[in-house]
Amino acid sequence: MAKRIIQTEATIEDEVLEKNLRPTSLNEYIGQDKLKKNLKVFIEAAKKRHEPLDHVLLYGPPGLGKTTLAGIVAEEMGVNIKVTSGPAIEKPGEIAAILNNLSENDVLFIDEIHRLNRQVEEVLYPAMEDYAIDVVIGKGEGARSIRLDLPKFTLIGATTRAGMLSAPLRDRFGVVSRLEFYNVSELMMIVMRSASVLGIDIDDEGALEIAKRSRGTPRLANRLLKRVRDFAEVEHAGKIDYNVAENALNKLDVDVYGLDDTDRNLLLTIIKNYNGGPVGLEVLAASIGEDTGTIEDVYEPYLIKNGFLNRTPKGRTVTAMTYRHFGIENKDS
Ligand code: ADE
Repeated sequence: MAKRIIQTEATIEDEVLEKNLRPTSLNEYIGQDKLKKNLKVFIEAAKKRHEPLDHVLLYGPPGLGKTTLAGIVAEEMGVNIKVTSGPAIEKPGEIAAILNNLSENDVLFIDEIHRLNRQVEEVLYPAMEDYAIDVVIGKGEGARSIRLDLPKFTLIGATTRAGMLSAPLRDRFGVVSRLEFYNVSELMMIVMRSASVLGIDIDDEGALEIAKRSRGTPRLANRLLKRVRDFAEVEHAGKIDYNVAENALNKLDVDVYGLDDTDRNLLLTIIKNYNGGPVGLEVLAASIGEDTGTIEDVYEPYLIKNGFLNRTPKGRTVTAMTYRHFGIENKDS
């Protein structure tokens, strides 16, 4: 069951909840301090010059606030935001129409930008560079290309895979920034803020326990908060304290490090089937029935960052800490 919580695809209820909880200004936004400070400067400078903000590429694991930040940038610039995603734009004509319908200095947010197809991407090059698109009129010998001016705009691209972006596209972003996992105190503040927005009664210890088990990810912190609230209301007096949080999180199969069933399955498979590794990504993916992309984007970054997993030239290996976490003896060490 816990697997559902971590998945990038949220239920409709979760999506509505997430939207309600989103901060709308940089001052309200908790964490990512360096990026926030830089964005403040870039936004102020662009506003002073009455120009759009330079194009921004945000990359990093899912759930860290890329969409939220795009919304905040638009809000702070005082412009509209159009939200779309790489796989949703299939034809060059579609991106041309989207660009043409923007107002001056608007933000266009493209999620999963690494999934744009080549033809669509090629429309973006002159659009990003010169605020223009080249339209081919006619066919065969009589075909000619005319340049149409577009409103000035800011493209904010988001991706979990900066490495999968083509070089010409990546090079056209003036700001390229990696979102980092949140630390426990930042997540605790986010949980407290969300609880106050949702009218949930929670104390510091309860918020801390949810924060610790949220895999450094605000989206997960907010989902866990909501699930823990269900247990608090049904099995307790409604208030979330340490005991209520701990109890509920254990029932949700989220362990003290925030690892869920898939994380545990991945690590235990390496230990039990491959003697701790190294094991290649493809083989590992087949063994646990996940696709390689999901392992790379969703599961690995947190496990690597927290010392459970290593990526070596020969494949994935678990660490001494992983053996200790599961109480399994490492016979090779
Ligand atoms: N809710 C989700 N992410 C948040 C953040 N970074 N700051 C404040 N509230 C949030």
